Amino acid sequence: MSPKKILLTGSAGQIGQVLVNALIDRYGRDNVIATDISNDPGFSCRYEKLNVLDKEGMVKALKDHEVDHFYHLAAILSAKGEQNPSQAWEVNMRGLLNALESAVECKVNRVFFPSSIAVFGEGVDKTFTAQDSVLIPTSVYGISKAAGENWCNYYFEKYGLDVRSLRYPGVIGHQTMPGGGTTDYAVDIYYAAIENGHFNCFLKKDSPLPMMYMGDAIRATIELMEADKVRLNVRTSYNLQGITFTPEEIYKSIKKLHPDFTIDYQPDFRQEIADSWPSRLDDSSARGDWGWQPEYDLEKMTEEMNSAILAKQLN
Ligand code: SER
Repeated sequence: MSPKKILLTGSAGQIGQVLVNALIDRYGRDNVIATDISNDPGFSCRYEKLNVLDKEGMVKALKDHEVDHFYHLAAILSAKGEQNPSQAWEVNMRGLLNALESAVECKVNRVFFPSSIAVFGEGVDKTFTAQDSVLIPTSVYGISKAAGENWCNYYFEKYGLDVRSLRYPGVIGHQTMPGGGTTDYAVDIYYAAIENGHFNCFLKKDSPLPMMYMGDAIRATIELMEADKVRLNVRTSYNLQGITFTPEEIYKSIKKLHPDFTIDYQPDFRQEIADSWPSRLDDSSARGDWGWQPEYDLEKMTEEMNSAILAKQLN
């Protein structure tokens, strides 16, 4: 069944911008309301400024538009969060609580909350991290996402709020630039290959992380939100596996297309964050419950990223 009206927070972010456009394509621009704290990036749907710390404004927007599906995307990511932990906690936690409280008050049918691989830390099998692994995150961002998942589960159990969530790996797309994350290098490297022929990588060459092409991440999000409620057994957040690679492996896949491309490795504080995260997740719950299947591998992603960035530069 199609939702009547969809509202998103954090619409101007890396995933937000692409998701807004995908939802417009699927449900029509009259049914999508994009919000963010920053200016309208030029969406074809209705756009409103909304600070997720302003609960009254959030309730008003949900009521005014009789919102059915609510995607609460706004958050401060891992690397930026470490620069200002209390601000990251406030935006990520108060923002989520405002979203959950407002969703109950406004009788929203479904809520989406993006969680992350950053919820994991010590005590997990990093090479194949189980759905129900212990969560001992090392970053403020990870702590806020681990707590957030549990708040989602609480609202489902206590208020029957239909909250759905994914633990996104690093998301790689050509449409938007990420900001403030540890996995951002895997987007920047494609631009560097084309624009400079050289890349300074802030992670070590052999540091594997779970990643996913934007097309797969958006499809996963919409598939989860459209899944039949009775099929969903996980109300904290679903593990999601796409592609695992190291900086050296993505560099080599790009070098096939740009033989003169060079790279230097200069690990900084983000290396410690990356070291605390898994390299691959067991996503059998997502596969079993709602049929998750990734479509992109490293080579296919590199081809698409490269041609899309080249095409953008010609325009
Ligand atoms: N991409 C995020 C980050 O690097 C992880 O969820 O912070």
